[in-house]
Amino acid sequence: MPTNRAGPERPRRVVVVPDGPILIEGPVEVVLDDGRRVVSDRFVVALCSCGLSGTYPWCDTSHRRRRPP
Ligand code: FES
Repeated sequence: MPTNRAGPERPRRVVVVPDGPILIEGPVEVVLDDGRRVVSDRFVVALCSCGLSGTYPWCDTSHRRRRPP
């Protein structure tokens, strides 16, 4: 599992948005289920948790179009 080489001054914050993405303080490297690795060096990274994103694993706000059950 990757570690923060500089050493965390505090735990990295992860915020789960109800019916939305998972926000993670960047930069991040995501390992996909097929083994590919994608990197984002944004200050805050939005990971798709709904599976609808056209830019998976990143959130592209497609979750907003999801209809309530
Ligand atoms: S959570 Fe935003 S597109 Fe999936």
